Amino acid sequence: MPMLKLENVVASYVPGVEILRSVTLRVEKGEIVCLVGPNGAGKSTVLRTISGFLRPSSGNIIFNEKAIGGMAPEQILKTGISHVPQGHSVFPKMTIHENLLMGAYTVKDKQVIEQRLEKVLVLFPWLKERAKEKAGNLSGGQQKVLEIGRALMLEPPLLILDEPSLGLAPKTMASLFETIRQLNSTGLTILMVEQNAREGLASAHRGYVLELGRDKFEGTAKELLESPEMAKLYLGGSTDGESYRSRRGRLRTLI
Ligand SMILES: Nc1ncnc2c1ncn2[C@@H]1O[C@H](COP(=O)(O)OP(=O)(O)OP(=O)(O)O)[C@@H](O)[C@H]1O
Ligand SMILES: [Mg+2]
Repeated sequence: MPMLKLENVVASYVPGVEILRSVTLRVEKGEIVCLVGPNGAGKSTVLRTISGFLRPSSGNIIFNEKAIGGMAPEQILKTGISHVPQGHSVFPKMTIHENLLMGAYTVKDKQVIEQRLEKVLVLFPWLKERAKEKAGNLSGGQQKVLEIGRALMLEPPLLILDEPSLGLAPKTMASLFETIRQLNSTGLTILMVEQNAREGLASAHRGYVLELGRDKFEGTAKELLESPEMAKLYLGGSTDGESYRSRRGRLRTLI
């Protein structure tokens, strides 16, 4: 039984306008699964539906053998899914330390909070060195690591990341993906959405392509990266060329 399973999930923000038309996917324990696809395909909506911000109108969402579809976000958080949303979500005027503590706001036991904080600081020692600095002073990549650290304060079995590399320079992006792989090697299961499809898949075990609210392709990351159809449609034209996003950016620049 996979850790997370979505079966024919349908969801809408506005009644009658289906954004997710039928999404079926699974995440096995210990995997990094990467969800890719064009703008507006519904990638963030899939993650929001998993974490309870949107109620599926039909289909099943099963997490650790429990049906969680339609449960409230706080309940889903408690079952062990932590969601780092798209864009920036640090509290810029609070310190790094305070931001990390916010991740454990549902935990009442001070000793547990201290232990978890210590674990996160062992993973990311620079957060300890800069604990008293305002989070808003950090670079984009550092803020993303802080957001991940904050999500880890709940010790979730499953971490979901929405476009973690968005807006990062290539070198920072590479180091963030390295961080994600390291976290995974400690046993954390990860579902991430990436529009930097090539880079995201290169760090994942398996992937899915979402288009118009449906899963269109699925495969191991290697299969997807080597597929000529994927290359043509989502990887910028060749199996070793530039990424979908950089191509989009270039087109926009040309226009
Ligand atoms: N809060 C909302 N209310 C109504 N419609 C929404 C809302 N959020 C997203 N949508 C619509 O749902 C569709 C899918 O959006 P979603 O954000 O899931 O796409 P995405 O694949 O994550 O795109 P991107 O790559 O731009 O992040 C889009 O047509 C979008 O306009
Ligand atoms: Mg999105």
